[in-house]
Amino acid sequence: MRPAMWVLMREHLALRAVARIIAMESALLAHDGRVDILLLENIAAYIAEFPNRIHHPKEEAYLFHAMRQRAPERCTALLDRLMNEHDKEADGTAMFLSAIQAYKKGGPFAITHLAEVTGTYAKYLERHIEIENTQAFVLAEEILHESDWDVINAAFLANIDPLVSAAPGPRFAELYRRIVALGAPPPGI
Ligand SMILES: [Fe+2]
Ligand SMILES: [Fe+2]
Repeated sequence: MRPAMWVLMREHLALRAVARIIAMESALLAHDGRVDILLLENIAAYIAEFPNRIHHPKEEAYLFHAMRQRAPERCTALLDRLMNEHDKEADGTAMFLSAIQAYKKGGPFAITHLAEVTGTYAKYLERHIEIENTQAFVLAEEILHESDWDVINAAFLANIDPLVSAAPGPRFAELYRRIVALGAPPPGI
C-alpha cells in the first residue's frame, strides 16, 4: 500500500471507531440518560485538534488537489461533496460541543438534544469515511501519477495524530482504551 494510503486508512480506522463510540454514547443517552460526558468532551477536543485541523485539510490540499488537476471531469462532483462536508465540520463540532455544555448545565431537553446531536454526527462521520474509502481513494489510485504520489506520500507521512503516533497523550488515553475495547485495531498498529 502507498505510504499516504496507509496513513489515511489508519486514520480512518481510528475515526470510524470514534464514530462508533459516539453512536454508542448516543444510544445510551436515548435509552436511559446515561453518558460518559468526559469521554464525549475528549472526543470533541480530538476531532477539533486532529481530523478538523490536519486530516481533512491535508486531504484537500494534497490528494483532492492533485485529483482535480489530473481528471477534473471524473472527480469534481465527488470532491465538491466531500469538501462541502469538510466545510461543515466546524459547525458540526461546534454543535457537538454546545450540546455537551448544555447537558452539563442540565435542563429538560439537554439529554434528548445531546443524544440527537451525537447520533447525527456519528452517522455523518461514518458516511463521510465510507465515501472517501470506497470512491475517492479508489479514483485517486486510478488517475494519479507516481510523481503526484511522491508529494502526497511526503505530506501524509509528516502527520502526527495524537491517537496513532506512539502512545496517546494523557488526554486521549481513555479514548484510545475505548477504541481498543471495541475490538477495533489499536490506533498506530
Ligand atoms: Fe475527509
Ligand atoms: Fe478522511
